[in-house]
Parts: sequence; structure tokens; C-alpha cells
Amino acid sequence: MNEPKKLHEEKAEGKTIGDFVAEDYRSAGVFEKYGIDFCCGGNVAFSAACRQKGVDPTQILQEIEAAKTEPVARSENFAAWELPFLADYIVTVHHGYIKENIGQIVSHTRKIAEVHGPRHPELTEIAALFDRVAADLTAHLREEEEIFFPALKQADSARTAGKKLEQQDADAMRRNLEILRREHEEVGDRVHAIRRLAKDFAVPGDACNTYTVTYKKLKEFEDDLHKHVHLENNILFLKAERYLVPPRA
Ligand SMILES: [Fe+2]
Ligand SMILES: [Fe+2]
Repeated sequence: MNEPKKLHEEKAEGKTIGDFVAEDYRSAGVFEKYGIDFCCGGNVAFSAACRQKGVDPTQILQEIEAAKTEPVARSENFAAWELPFLADYIVTVHHGYIKENIGQIVSHTRKIAEVHGPRHPELTEIAALFDRVAADLTAHLREEEEIFFPALKQADSARTAGKKLEQQDADAMRRNLEILRREHEEVGDRVHAIRRLAKDFAVPGDACNTYTVTYKKLKEFEDDLHKHVHLENNILFLKAERYLVPPRA
């Protein structure tokens, strides 16, 4: 006779980390606590992610249930927002954050690599990686703002008017979303490499103020990027795929 399924097996069956977070953003805090990536690595199955981190899935599910009892403000219920509003929010809040901060972080990472590089060679690697992140993200934001988000908004207003996307436009949109997701993964990998090199941003004893501020900013940058990519991969793009793009003929 088959054993009855445990609570966690039933609740998590077929679900990815991204599904949990898209369903309820409050679960992100639980995944963060256990070091489970919910944005760039959000398409990993829940059970596989728990196995990788050696954590008990039942414990995590209980904590998620507990987190869900905290009140959620309408202002943070991103999944309930209309697509154009969500796209504008991402541009204003998260693209805005990157544009305001990226130049300063580039110059700080270069500066501390120059001054402290001889004693802390990882800083040279961090500066090179962040230069690449800055260049890639600058191009990525431009693509989203000038091409992809306007296309999503246009398709959304066509849907509201009762029109369906032509198959070729739907295929193009699907391909574009794949490109954007791949770019998120590449940037996410570099940002995670920075965190590993910086040993989770633990500041060494001989660090100067700029060193300390740079590590704080790098951590803040990573946190903001996680939220940003989560909103795009797990909410905005999923909405687009579910509501705008007809299934392949
Ligand atoms: Fe973005
Ligand atoms: Fe993006």
C-alpha cells in the first residue's frame, strides 16, 4: 500500500520557488533566511531547492504559512496589479535605483581595488565583475524600457480591447521573454560571484570607510536586484505568458 503523502509533498507538488513567491511575496523572506534563491534561480522545484540546501521542507512550509498570517498591504500585492502599472512601478523603483547608484558603486569598487587590492586581491575581481554587471544592466534596462515593456503594454491594451496577438507577434514575445530571463541569469550569476568573493560582505578589520560603504552598497544592490528580477520573472513575465501569449499552435 502506498504511504499517504506528507503535508509538504501535497502542498509543494510541482511547484517551483518562483511559484511560491509569485503567489505570496511574504514567502520570499523565508526563502531568503535559508539562502534559497527566489529570483534568478526561482525556477527550481521547491523540493530540489530544499534538498540542495539540506533544509526540511515541512519546516519551510510551516514558516511560509506563519508568514502568510502577517497582513499584506495592497501596496505590496504585486501579483494583483495590472500589467502596465507593474511595468511602470519596476521602471520607476528598480530601474531608478540602478541608475541612481550604479555609477557610484563602479567608482567605489574600482577605488578600493586600487587601494586595498594588494592585500585583498578579491577586490580586483569584484571591481571587474561589477564593471561587467553595470555595462550589461545598462543595456538590459534600455531594452526593457524602449522595446520590451512598451510591447507588453501594447499587447495588454489590445487584450483589453478584445484582440488576440498574431501568432508571429506571440512567438516574438515568447522569444524576447526568454532572452530577458537569460540576461537576468547572467547578471544574477555575476552578482552571486561578487557575494562569494566578498565572503557575504563581511568587512575585514583593516577596511577603510569607503571599503565599508562599498560592501554595504553592494549588498543593498543585490537585495534590490533580487526584488527587481523576482517582479519581472515571476510576476510580470508570467502575466504576459498567461494572458497575452496564446498557446503554440
Ligand atoms: Fe528590469
Ligand atoms: Fe530585467
